[in-house]
Order: sequence, then structure tokens, then C-alpha cells
Amino acid sequence: MYSRIAGTGSYLPEKILTNAELAEKVDTTDEWIVSRTGIRQRHLAAPDQLTSDLALIAVERALAAAGVDKSEVDLLIVATTTPDNIFPSTACILQNKLGVHGFPAFDMQAVCAGFVYALTTADQFIKSGAVKCAVVVGAETLSNLIDWTDRGTCILFGDGAGAVVLKASEEPGILATHLHADGRYNGILKTDARPKQGELVGNPFVYMEGNAVFKFAVKALAEVAESTLAKAGLAKSDVDWLVPHQANIRIIESTAKHLHMSMDNVIVTVAEHGNTSAASIPLALDAGIRSGKIQRGQTLLMEGIGGGFAWGSVLVKY
Ligand SMILES: CC(C)(COP(=O)(O)OP(=O)(O)OC[C@H]1O[C@@H](n2cnc3c(N)ncnc32)[C@H](O)[C@@H]1OP(=O)(O)O)[C@@H](O)C(=O)NCCC(=O)NCCS
Repeated sequence: MYSRIAGTGSYLPEKILTNAELAEKVDTTDEWIVSRTGIRQRHLAAPDQLTSDLALIAVERALAAAGVDKSEVDLLIVATTTPDNIFPSTACILQNKLGVHGFPAFDMQAVCAGFVYALTTADQFIKSGAVKCAVVVGAETLSNLIDWTDRGTCILFGDGAGAVVLKASEEPGILATHLHADGRYNGILKTDARPKQGELVGNPFVYMEGNAVFKFAVKALAEVAESTLAKAGLAKSDVDWLVPHQANIRIIESTAKHLHMSMDNVIVTVAEHGNTSAASIPLALDAGIRSGKIQRGQTLLMEGIGGGFAWGSVLVKY
């Protein structure tokens, strides 16, 4: 039994913050941001828009694209680092907003690797025969964790949501998955705030050692791409589309180079929305499918990496 992608959907909040607008707030330029990251703008959730609100629109679009009624869903996983509340889970809140109840719903916390972790988990549920239709969402309101006076981080991140409907099928399907984590690197990318007796203690903003993160990401993503292809018995040349985590165009280019892939075969949306953490892969996937670039029968390699450090990849026959 395989997990097959039946449909995708995504949502970006209306408000756009351009590099030029950011340059009015911190000491930076559009040229610096574009050349170092490839990012041109990011979308910001409205003050009253929660992660579950963004997720709901993405899920409704994915269900419509899949031609699946919400009553058919029997598993919901939300990958997020910016949940609506400490608890209940954003997945339970989203389930209620969807108006369907009873089936398991839970959050997955693996920061920017959240979507590949969630997709891998849903795949296990489907392959074991436990569920037939899973909705996997990556959704973030990361702008709430950004110190808008820190030019080293505020240029990078944005808000958004993407969703995938997975159905059990005898046709492939997810071919191979590979997840990793190495907690020794938990200090180079983090938001270490926590509630304590009614107060928030620790830094509530994203802290990042940019160079260390960059180096780790380039190496880990190259390795995980190789090991996932090996697991599926496929060659680099068998991959039609790379659908990478949209953090930085230079990291994406480096992975493509390692796979001997032309950038023409890479889905790149980072310019439009920056790093949306767990939402970035499903946002890119949905853009690739809706633009007609990604066609049924093609082989896609998705890969993500983020704080933890946690990383992984999913190889799919679409
Ligand atoms: C953040 C990042 C773009 C910084 O680029 P970089 O080339 O490594 O730049 P550095 O951090 O070495 O800084 C170089 C200089 O630019 C400056 N700088 C940093 N941010 C700047 C900005 N927004 N505008 C202008 N200058 C900036 C630094 O202060 C430094 O100045 P100095 O040489 O006078 O000290 C890069 O490290 C990166 O992309 N890292 C990975 C980030 C990422 O993907 N994170 C998420 C992973 S899930």
C-alpha cells in the first residue's frame, strides 16, 4: 500500500512586506537581501489571524483539489512551530474549524523539517492500513517570533500554510522517506522562551547563527538526498523535480548542484514568501502543481531542515 498525493492547497496572508519596506526599518538593502537569500518579500498574518486560520484555507483548497470530502479524512497532522496556543494542539483546533470530528489529530514539532516529519508519519499510518485518507499541513505565523529590529533574522522569515491530501493507493505514491535529528546542534537556531509560573522566560525571538546554519544545511541536505534515493533504488537522474525547503536560494542551488540538477527542475518560491518554516515545502509543492510544472507520474524529491537540528526527505511518485 502506498500513500498517494491526491491534492494540494496553500495560502499566503494578504499583507506583503517587501525588502524595500524592511530597509526603512533596519539597516539593510533590497540588493543585499536578494543576493544573500533570494528573498524579495514575505507575507504577514493579520493581527487576528492564527496559524489554524491559515491552515484552514490551505486544507480547504487541498480537499477541493483532491476532490475529497472532509468526511473522508481520518487523520490530521499539523506541522508547526507557531501553534495557536500551548494546548490544545493546533490540529485539534483546525479539526473543529473544519467541522469534522473523531479521527486522530495532532501537531508535529520539527521546525523547518516539520512537513517532511509529518508527511513521513502520515505515510506510516497509511502503509500500515490504519488510515485511508490523511491531511498533512505545514502552517506558521512565524512573524510573531521575529525581532523586527534584528536585520540578521527579520529579513528571512514569513507566514503561510500549505496542505496535502494523502490517500491510500496501490499505485505509488511515497517511495521512500528518511528522517534525522542531531540535538548537539540545538543552540545554533532556536527560540528558547518558555512559560514559567505565569511569565515568559528566555528570549521569545528567533536566534540564529547564520553561517553555522548555512554550512550544516548544505551538508545535511546533500547527504539526505543521496540516502533517500539509495533507499528507493533510484539514481539522481531519476528525479524530475526537487521541491526543497524554501529558506535560502544559495542553499537550494547547492543541493541542486550536488544532485546534478538544473535549476529549471527545482521549484523555487522563496522570493515570494521567504522562509515560512514548516509551510515552505507544501507551499512550493502546491505552486509547482498549480503552475502545471509538476505532472502526474513524475518523481519529486522534497527535503527540509531546521532547528533541532532536524532534517529529512521524502521521495514521491506524484
Ligand atoms: C543569514 C545569512 C543570509 C547571512 O549571510 P552571510 O553571507 O552569512 O552574512 P554574515 O552573517 O557573514 O554577515 C556578513 C555581514 O553582513 C551583515 N549583515 C547581516 N545581515 C544583514 C542585512 N540584513 N543587511 C545588510 N547586512 C547584513 C553582517 O552584520 C556582517 O557585517 P560585518 O561583516 O560588518 O560584521 C546567511 O548566513 C544564511 O542564509 N544562513 C542560513 C539561514 C537559514 O537558512 N536559516 C533557516 C534554516 S531553516
